[in-house]
Amino acid sequence: HPHIDYVGSTLKIEQVTASAVAAEFGTPTYVYSRASIEEAAQRYSQAAQASSVHVALRYAVKANSNLAVLQLLARLGWGFDIVSAGELKRVLAAGGEAGKVVFSGVGKSADDMRFALDVGVECFNVESPSELAALNRVAQAAGKVARVALRVNPDVDAGTHPYISTGLKTNKFGISQDQAAQLALQTAQLEQVQLVGIACHIGSQITTVEPYLDALDKVLDLVEQMEHKGAKIEHIDLGGGLGIRYTDETPPTPQEWLSPLLARISARGFGHRTVVIEPGRSIVGNAGVLLTRTLFLKSTPVKHFAVVDAGMNDLIRPALYSAEQAVVLAEQREGSALKYDIVGPVCESADWLARDRALVLEEGDLLAILSSGAYGMVMASNYNSRGRPAEVMIDGATATLIRPRETPEQLYASERLLP
Ligand code: LLP
Repeated sequence: HPHIDYVGSTLKIEQVTASAVAAEFGTPTYVYSRASIEEAAQRYSQAAQASSVHVALRYAVKANSNLAVLQLLARLGWGFDIVSAGELKRVLAAGGEAGKVVFSGVGKSADDMRFALDVGVECFNVESPSELAALNRVAQAAGKVARVALRVNPDVDAGTHPYISTGLKTNKFGISQDQAAQLALQTAQLEQVQLVGIACHIGSQITTVEPYLDALDKVLDLVEQMEHKGAKIEHIDLGGGLGIRYTDETPPTPQEWLSPLLARISARGFGHRTVVIEPGRSIVGNAGVLLTRTLFLKSTPVKHFAVVDAGMNDLIRPALYSAEQAVVLAEQREGSALKYDIVGPVCESADWLARDRALVLEEGDLLAILSSGAYGMVMASNYNSRGRPAEVMIDGATATLIRPRETPEQLYASERLLP
């Protein structure tokens, strides 16, 4: 992991030791490396610049929506992919430009559409005929014309976990190819919407290029069909989804991912269109760790458990997707390892963070759960009335608290007792 590594037996995030972060801010705490985020973003920018095709970079806010993270990307000139007015407000608060925002999602409310129209987002990625009609109504009331892309469901198997695949015909996402062609025609009749793009998204944590090429071919077929009938498609949105290394995955680099896609686009005569990409996980995933302290070691007749102070409410990916993330000690120690299940304090058997990990552990040890920068804090909950973790950004030798730990009092501050 770039910028998150051992120096001797001590784990460091850039120039700061994990132990120092825990001593200053407590645990559990999410810690991010600024350099790692920026370098990941720049790998996309460079891959985009290497091609003659114009690529618009739109960070998927859902992966990590802390204002400081959004600010770093806004400063690099990135736009954003959002799925709610809440995410849009964050983008604006962090200095992002509304004119570089793509609004995705299968269930946009009228209020959210209205807000997005008022601030002037660049495009709505529409996922159903009903949504298109609703957007047309909202735009009419607002006296605006909404720029839309139709999100098609290309029906390709991205080979990822069923919960994070989105481009299969059995998924709720997108519009079938036949329906999309029809809907494109209908768009021409609607006065308050303007069809400008075609979008797709086939899933997340995808580690090969082939499913993207398959989806792209289907999308380009559709663009041809639509333009044949008079539509003008300015951009093609390929979604996000490039995977990262959690344990032993070997995903392509942004360059290895983008260059065959852009080559295909050019070869098929669409090289003068803008290509939009919406990466999330691959920007922030490996830039973050979750620090957690070992409370107790506990052995039953059949297992060794390390009970730590982070739980499934803080990091739900293992419980929800059986996701595997590496767990390492902040200070490595010599000795003979035991195999532990790393479990949290929450009252659920699903509250595990890792299974069967060989570690040399003592009570009080600080652990880092790696690759936690994406879909970590954003999916945290307050189950068991647990305040969500603090978040810290490391920049060189400086650690900045970018969100304090939630207190129990904050959690019920807006609740009311009955009279
Ligand atoms: N664009 C759209 C329309 C999306 O639905 C997503 C993710 C992205 C972009 C960003 O995809 P990425 O580059 O991050 O793969 N919580 C799950 C991942 C859910 C992803 C949902 N959509 C996890 O923790 O694995």
